[in-house]
Amino acid sequence: MTRESWHTRLGFILAAVGSAVGLGNVWRFPWMTAENGGSAFLVVYLAIVLLVGVPGLLAEFVIGRRSNRNPAGAMFRLSSGSKSWGMVGLFGVVTAVVLLSFYSVVGGWIVRYFLSSFIGSYHAAPAAYFSGIDFGIGAAFYHVVFLSLTAFIVVGGVRDGIEKATKVMMPLILLLLGALAVWATSQPGAGAGLEFYLNFDAAYLQNNFFDVLGAAAGQALFTLSLGVGTMITYASYLGDDNDLALDGSIIAVLNTGVGVLAGLVVFPLLFATLGELSGTAAKGGAGALFISLAGAFSQVPFGTVLSVLFFGVITLAALSSSISMLEIPVAYLVDEHDMERRNATLGLAGLILFTGSANALNPALFDFVASTLVDLMLTTGLVGFLVFAGWVLGKDALSEFSAGAGRSRAIGPAWLWSIRTVLPVFLAGTLLVNLLALAGFSVGDLLAFVVP
Ligand code: TRP
Repeated sequence: MTRESWHTRLGFILAAVGSAVGLGNVWRFPWMTAENGGSAFLVVYLAIVLLVGVPGLLAEFVIGRRSNRNPAGAMFRLSSGSKSWGMVGLFGVVTAVVLLSFYSVVGGWIVRYFLSSFIGSYHAAPAAYFSGIDFGIGAAFYHVVFLSLTAFIVVGGVRDGIEKATKVMMPLILLLLGALAVWATSQPGAGAGLEFYLNFDAAYLQNNFFDVLGAAAGQALFTLSLGVGTMITYASYLGDDNDLALDGSIIAVLNTGVGVLAGLVVFPLLFATLGELSGTAAKGGAGALFISLAGAFSQVPFGTVLSVLFFGVITLAALSSSISMLEIPVAYLVDEHDMERRNATLGLAGLILFTGSANALNPALFDFVASTLVDLMLTTGLVGFLVFAGWVLGKDALSEFSAGAGRSRAIGPAWLWSIRTVLPVFLAGTLLVNLLALAGFSVGDLLAFVVP
């Protein structure tokens, strides 16, 4: 049986942008920006996307396109049969299942908000509404609805499922989000929101440099879908004529653009209705998006229409990401265990039905998975991919990078050097900081200890 492939270059780019654009852009990015020094954070974040994100993306692309395999099969074969490297790839496959088990619960919340936007169920008491649906049987049910939508697209295959779906979804997301941003920024009182979002708080950056760096790095990996093998898998369906560096840059630029655009919707809207941010809104996180924005929509003219559009956009964004998570273990079962795509997809959906429901029923488990476990697993995975591409593939990585490349060929050697040295060290450093934080220490404590 011949392996599946993308129909067009644009199809691949849109699918990869679809993977990248998700809850990380619409929900996490604006809040991280606002909480970490506004446009000062934005500058750090952009630098990390450029210096860590794009090279990481290219490392995954190179592994995928060279092997035409899922992450586990790719690393096993390219290392001429090293079981240990195969396990590193398999770690990514497992991470994808863990990730989807929580992402799909949040996806379920969004589907529910989308549906209730039509009748305004959350208008009267937004906070009470959210705390009534966030965990429990209802949350488990909507998680299954979201998971089913995801599986429905993935069953269709690479061309007829993922490529076709993202080709419709991505332009729609850009168009609707752009329109919402124009509307939100023209509301009276929106200026204060923009100021809060984009104020340049250099002092904050200076005083909390390591925290900001860690936050920006974590955000960059998550939003570019790195460290799991999504981009290995998507690139494994490519032919040899793509300019990987160019495509990777386009993907990163579009992804950042959507994040900034989402902030231009969220903050003007909140300030125009609330006047200032307080309580849940100021703290950010899941509660903020759902409670504050839902509340805001109940106060503006045409709120029903606008909220249907808004939650519709987020549903599409979340779906175009969740399919890229499910595709990793599906590709693994199809490539390595000769399963039919349909059986692989349904079997995995059955498994995640249970693991996701565990998250939907247990808030403490959900919190741990969403805010700690996933971060650690992504960073570990990406360090593995970088070291693999840099040291195991080495020169072969460079020739794969150059195949199909135009001018971008010139940056190949610098790229190889960076994924061999500074990037894995930098990521291992952020991993250490996160592990320390888990144990209750901050970098400040550590420095105070080392430098008395
Ligand atoms: N990037 C997506 C978002 O921002 C999430 C995502 C999709 C992801 N696939 C991934 C994150 C793979 C890490 C790894 O919502």
